[in-house]
Amino acid sequence: MEKQSNTGSLEAHAPLDVLILAAGLGTRMRSQKAKVLHELGGRPLIAHVCRTATALDPRRIYVVVGHQAEAVAEAVRAELGADGASFIEQTEQRGTGDAVMAAREALAEAGSTLLILSGDVPLVRAETLASLVHQHRTHRGRGAASTMLAVRLEDPTGYGRIIRDAEGRFERIVEQKDATPEERTVTEINAGIYCFDTETLFPALARVRPSNAQGEYYLTDVPALLRADGADVGVYLHTDAREVSGINTRVELAEFERLLRQRTLRRLMLDSGVTFIDPQRTYVSSDAQIGRDCVIYPDVLIEGQSVIGDGCVIRSGTRITDSRIGNGVTVKDHCVIVESEIADNCTLGPFAHLRMNSKLEEGAAVGNFVEMKKSRLGSRSKSMHLTYLGDATIGEETNIGAGTVTCNYDGKAKHPTVIEDHVRIGSDTMLVAPVHVGHGAVTAAGAVVTEDVPPETLVAGVPAKVKKHLKAEES
Ligand code: UD1
Ligand code: CA
Repeated sequence: MEKQSNTGSLEAHAPLDVLILAAGLGTRMRSQKAKVLHELGGRPLIAHVCRTATALDPRRIYVVVGHQAEAVAEAVRAELGADGASFIEQTEQRGTGDAVMAAREALAEAGSTLLILSGDVPLVRAETLASLVHQHRTHRGRGAASTMLAVRLEDPTGYGRIIRDAEGRFERIVEQKDATPEERTVTEINAGIYCFDTETLFPALARVRPSNAQGEYYLTDVPALLRADGADVGVYLHTDAREVSGINTRVELAEFERLLRQRTLRRLMLDSGVTFIDPQRTYVSSDAQIGRDCVIYPDVLIEGQSVIGDGCVIRSGTRITDSRIGNGVTVKDHCVIVESEIADNCTLGPFAHLRMNSKLEEGAAVGNFVEMKKSRLGSRSKSMHLTYLGDATIGEETNIGAGTVTCNYDGKAKHPTVIEDHVRIGSDTMLVAPVHVGHGAVTAAGAVVTEDVPPETLVAGVPAKVKKHLKAEES
């Protein structure tokens, strides 16, 4: 990306501030939830815009909030950190002009180039915005008072149209609802992304009147007012229409989801070398990483910040969320892996469920209907059938028999189970926590273990008692 700083130009530019408009409800979403909180690629729309804004390295990011202000602010903080943005409250949503006016106190004296973004235009690229800022600052060698991002759309319905005079110079923006049938045939539209200079923006904004079909204060009236004052108004015509389109309905949200997913899968296929058996039926978050020569079957979901190493096979019906998976791991069908970590050469599933910081160490295996919660399974250890391991720490080369349950909850509190190396837990063993099973111990089938098991012993029965001492080499 082109760096838009003072360096390299003789004339120092005003600093860059970003203002994101995110106070509207988004009536056309037909939702209780503010539009900018709807998710695209597993992240709220506003988070996408915030991340793009920071890539420009602005002096400060301001976000205008109104509908569900606290939830929107929380989503912004989740993306940018507690102090990553300043919030401006627009108490009543009286239009985009009014939203910017709410920032007057914070910005009228800022002396900055102000980049205004919409919270509902999530896929615009930082490079595009940097070019817009550059054109704004260098327009005719002295900079423009206002520059808007425009694009041509085959179907411009719903957007503000850019009206030009006979010489092709910008004249004004007319909103869909205020446009004449002739104006509606104009296909050049306002993307809702602009640069202004704060000194000229706010005086012009104060002159905007809500005399239009919607009775709103339109930010889109400002460029025409500036032009009438004799100031320069620029239009930056971008070629990628989809990149700068906004989301107004759930139909558009679904189209963007498809677009974002295509972008992500293409990148993973072309740059990382991942095979997707059916890309149309695979969902991968744009933040996930997948290594070389992985094979991903249809109907797999890889969500959040998941990282998958090289040469893994992930079979159908599996969901992996915010987890780390090493190299050479096989995940058979229908597994759920959430916030967990899997080392190299492990095997999971079918139908395994790992959650809450569970860990498989190298070469470990979990099989059919095994659930692990906050548990660790050591190297080359196995738990293959019908088992619950909660709050358990299991050593190396240990086998957990079918139907084993760590009874970790006594009705009041959760307790840990520790199973050391080279242990054999017999089928249907109940481990009543807190409990410790020593190195090389064996539990007989059906044992109910209520007391610690000494190393190299065999326990059996209900409650389980030591029946035999084992030689270390037998275990
Ligand atoms: C706006 C533009 C239109 C442009 C389109 C591009 C105006 C009047 N029209 O229309 O020319 O083609 O974007 O996507 O600006 N918002 C507030 N407070 C308000 C109203 C809106 O913060 O009082 C925020 C919304 O949350 C949203 C953004 O401003 O993030 C745009 O508002 P929206 O109502 O979607 O504008 P459009 O009708 O799409
Ligand atoms: Ca919009």
